[in-house]
Amino acid sequence: MSVETSASSGDEASPACRTLVIFGASGDLTRRKLIPALYSLDRDGLLPPELRIVGFSRTAPGNDDFRRGMREAVREFSRRPPTEADWPRFALRLHSLAGDYARDADYAALQRFADGLCPRGGSGSCLYYLALPPAAAETVLGQLARLRRERPGPGDRVLIEKPFGSDLEGARRLNRLCAAGFGESEIGRIDHYLAKDTVRNLLVLRFGNAVFEELWNRRHIDNIQITAAETLGVGSRAGYYEAAGVVRDMIQNHLLQIMALVAMEPPLPGDLDSVRTHRLEVFKSILPVGPEDFAFGQYRGYRAEPGVAPGSRTPTFAALRLEVANWRWQGVPFYLRSGKALGRRLSEVVIRFKSVPLCLLESEQACQTARPNTLGIRLHPDEGLRLAFNVRLPGCEQRLEQTELDFRYSQLGVELPEAYERVLLDALRGAPLVFPRADEVEAAWQVVMPLVEAGARPGTPELPVYEPGSWGPAEAAALPARDGRAWINPPDGPPKPGAA
Ligand code: BG6
Repeated sequence: MSVETSASSGDEASPACRTLVIFGASGDLTRRKLIPALYSLDRDGLLPPELRIVGFSRTAPGNDDFRRGMREAVREFSRRPPTEADWPRFALRLHSLAGDYARDADYAALQRFADGLCPRGGSGSCLYYLALPPAAAETVLGQLARLRRERPGPGDRVLIEKPFGSDLEGARRLNRLCAAGFGESEIGRIDHYLAKDTVRNLLVLRFGNAVFEELWNRRHIDNIQITAAETLGVGSRAGYYEAAGVVRDMIQNHLLQIMALVAMEPPLPGDLDSVRTHRLEVFKSILPVGPEDFAFGQYRGYRAEPGVAPGSRTPTFAALRLEVANWRWQGVPFYLRSGKALGRRLSEVVIRFKSVPLCLLESEQACQTARPNTLGIRLHPDEGLRLAFNVRLPGCEQRLEQTELDFRYSQLGVELPEAYERVLLDALRGAPLVFPRADEVEAAWQVVMPLVEAGARPGTPELPVYEPGSWGPAEAAALPARDGRAWINPPDGPPKPGAA
């Protein structure tokens, strides 16, 4: 559909040379996601041949060590392992540079360094990737805005990792700094979920098919559930996660963006910006969240993880009940939940339809076994769609069973690329970026500020503890239970004992 195709057609005119500068190159994201994604793109012949990649960090290793470390990272995390044939070519693109994020002189040195990498001399364009926590991102954005005012380069872009700010005020500050140096079309506020094929498919599912959209409203839908569950704990990321917690890490961005795609009005054909406008309208229509609308939890053992404070109050799980006060969704609750160390690794949207208005089946028993239809949109893993519906079991007695129409992407025989491959490719090609606009990010912060403030208040009670391997604390079950509903957990593989 047009909103999709327009996102992939970029201005591919090749400037004299291009440099991708990664700020925070010594961090986890660079190792786990960015360099593995760049290597996959290179293997597929999708990286511009002249592209150089500069890892800029306070404690930069020499080039040889940087390349060795990145080869190890690619071996561990890329969907394509490094080969003797391809790695040496890719490694030559990689450079390492030490610098202080706050020092003007180090940015002048960075520019000279980047210019020096241009094969024919002169200066090219830079894609700045800020893989940094919000406070450091503010410092770097301030410097980049100054640089761009001094030397405005066509084709320069900036990508900023989430969380975009630590709260609404922080997001506003970052937006002002972005606007001081870059036009809105040159700014990518990264939410890698928006680059996932399965998430991008949400609009195709809704607006590229005649069967769903007519039913996509309060008259036919009972409730909508969005889950992003992970089995792993915080691992080696406590330094980041202790300050972020699940609300800044997953809810403010990934889950709310998915919700917006599910709930938004149809975009204008071919107009990517109208997608953003309609997502913004969803955020603005969400009723203010009260303390009774959310529940937190922390997995047992979190406080003993390396780098976690012994008395940490950082939530590793949150569940949230939202209402969208507009014509389409009035009265339909949206339940969102995300957590670490849960029973299944799973990201999905579940649409639970209303029951039929009147049971016309032969027996009371048949009426009781008829269950409402459910559309499950599995974003990860086993990506696909499942539509559950009732069928009559063959035989003399009328007996019903719920069965599924089940589509898996794996049936298509294509490998789904990593979301970060799409993020980097679009940014390098100058394609319109699929990421949230300034006003959207601020509106999403507005939605979760009651959760952020609840965590920050002095004297906050201890968080409920949940067992690793469960579906979170019992308090989460209370949110849908209040409405006479329940979380819909996947049928395959029950959670371990202790589950909510
Ligand atoms: C990141 C979060 O944005 O998303 C991580 O910082 C989380 O904590 C990750 O593990 C999940 O992404 P995915 O693509 O593996 O579902």
